[in-house]
Amino acid sequence: MINPRTRVQLGQSVLEVSRIGAGTWQWGGRFYWGYGRQYDDNDLARAYSACIEHGINWFDTAELYGRGRSERILGQLVNRPSPKTPPAARPLVATKFFPYPWRLHRSSLRRALKASLRRLDATSVDLYQLHIPLRPRGFMYWVDAIADAAEDGLINAIGVSNFSADQTKRAHEALATRGLVLASNQVAYSLLNRSVEANGVIDACRELGVSVIAYGPLAEGLLTGKYGPGSPPPLLRRLRLARNRLESLPPLIGLMRDIGSAHNATPSQVALNWLVARGTLPIPGVKSAEQASDNAAAMAWQLCSDELETLGEATKGFMGGRPK
Ligand SMILES: NC(=O)c1ccc[n+]([C@@H]2O[C@H](COP(=O)([O-])OP(=O)(O)OC[C@H]3O[C@@H](n4cnc5c(N)ncnc54)[C@H](OP(=O)(O)O)[C@@H]3O)[C@@H](O)[C@H]2O)c1
Repeated sequence: MINPRTRVQLGQSVLEVSRIGAGTWQWGGRFYWGYGRQYDDNDLARAYSACIEHGINWFDTAELYGRGRSERILGQLVNRPSPKTPPAARPLVATKFFPYPWRLHRSSLRRALKASLRRLDATSVDLYQLHIPLRPRGFMYWVDAIADAAEDGLINAIGVSNFSADQTKRAHEALATRGLVLASNQVAYSLLNRSVEANGVIDACRELGVSVIAYGPLAEGLLTGKYGPGSPPPLLRRLRLARNRLESLPPLIGLMRDIGSAHNATPSQVALNWLVARGTLPIPGVKSAEQASDNAAAMAWQLCSDELETLGEATKGFMGGRPK
């Protein structure tokens, strides 16, 4: 049994995080995730409390999620006075800047950051990430603008997301010349999408001491075992996920159930545990207290080397990458 409250350093930054965080794209995501129809703010408040109770100490959001709603909901929960949560146990918040093509000047990053801070009701962001390296400005311009904000005390750690190995190296180098560290690169990574192993991102991050944050760690629910050819996920996800992908799921889920049974663990926990064993920090998205406590329980045990090898062998076909 491993202590689920064990913390690890995020890259070489000052932040100490649990080995699993919580994703909040779902918090306010109406069309894709069904916020307001299938679950509401009360479910999210309970999910938040379950995360804290079971040792998850950081939440990932973005200005993009629910057009700011995710940040607002998270800000209210983090700042809510609670006798159960002493100030020292206040969780860390990671958010992201999206480089929309009409954002052309570094002042737009400063404005976006200030708007995020207002929604989060905070004076600084624990981890501020560049959401995606997009033109026309290019990622180096925005990394530099984030560095300015870090120097002004608005950000405690700097991260990037969806960066290639080469882009990660360049961002790391640019920050180092200013005496700053690149804490993390947030990328799509799961048993059903292992492209970051094949394209050098994992190796580059390890070499540079940059943490890999794994998004889509449950392949948007496919790895939980509740979806398959006869029980596809709800509409928009069904459209996005190719039918043949659902048909190839049952043997893998069967294997995950077999392996999980030795640890009294669900398929979701096996999927998350596998990512933790690979030295990455998964951030499963949560909609309910049940999902939050199920996911957090994956921090309390460890797959053995034979099990890791079997899972690795069964999913090596996904090294080429797939949509999340
Ligand atoms: N940087 C980026 O570009 C980027 C892109 C995407 C996501 N992200 C971040 O990464 C986070 C995670 O990725 P994701 O949310 O797309 O996908 P995910 O974590 O793979 O899947 C989340 C979904 O799986 C289901 N689920 C979660 N835990 C479960 C459990 N224990 N049992 C059963 N079902 C469970 C829930 O949906 P249902 O109950 O509806 O099935 C949940 O909404 C996001 O919330 C976001 O913070 C970042």
